[in-house]
Amino acid sequence: MLGIIGAMNEEVELLLADLDTRGLDGPAQLSFPGVTLHRGRLDGVDVLVTVGGIGKVNAAMTTTYLLVSGASRVVFTGVAGGVHPQLRVGDIVVSTDCVQHDVDVTPLGYPLGEIPGETLAWPADGTLQALALEAAHEVPDVNVTGGRVVSGDVFVASPDKVRWLWETFGAACAEMEGAAVAQVCARHGVPFVVIRSVSDTADGGANVDYREFMPRVARHAKQVVRGMTRRI
Ligand code: ADE
Repeated sequence: MLGIIGAMNEEVELLLADLDTRGLDGPAQLSFPGVTLHRGRLDGVDVLVTVGGIGKVNAAMTTTYLLVSGASRVVFTGVAGGVHPQLRVGDIVVSTDCVQHDVDVTPLGYPLGEIPGETLAWPADGTLQALALEAAHEVPDVNVTGGRVVSGDVFVASPDKVRWLWETFGAACAEMEGAAVAQVCARHGVPFVVIRSVSDTADGGANVDYREFMPRVARHAKQVVRGMTRRI
């Protein structure tokens, strides 16, 4: 079963509208404290779709619910701030790996971003990555790239921070959930990939661009997920 998470309603409601719930055995929804998982099929693929909420804690919690409910691979879909200098609003990033940019245990000798006892970067599954890249290339008029997705409980809106993320981590884009999903999936040995459409370039105008472009680019992310379910 494929688990699909988006952080916000806008990112998930387009997929929920397409969900085929005919002939399900059992309930169409699974409820956990603060989280609802929607069961159904997309293009004949059994899926669990959910709005995970914003930030790493919500993402980790929701991912755990998905995995204990039977998801055997996970796709996270949504929007992000572009960090790679060539990324523009609307472009799509498929994760090669994920890092938590707000983790700092450097006083104890660990590299920035690394949680003691864990890896610095959680690699995405190769098969899901390839599927996502193929599907993303079908979205008209956007550039598609594979790259590192960095996550933190921070809405990035400053050129200095963007430069820092680029120079420190080689980040392609910054968001607030992907690496938490990655960490939980890795713990469970479950493959994952993060797909992000660029809603802003994480600079001084990020808040304005985000509000303006978010609904449009969320549609791109949805198109990519459907492109994937058509291929699975
Ligand atoms: N999601 C979309 N834009 C973002 C930004 N600039 N920072 C963090 N998360 C985001």
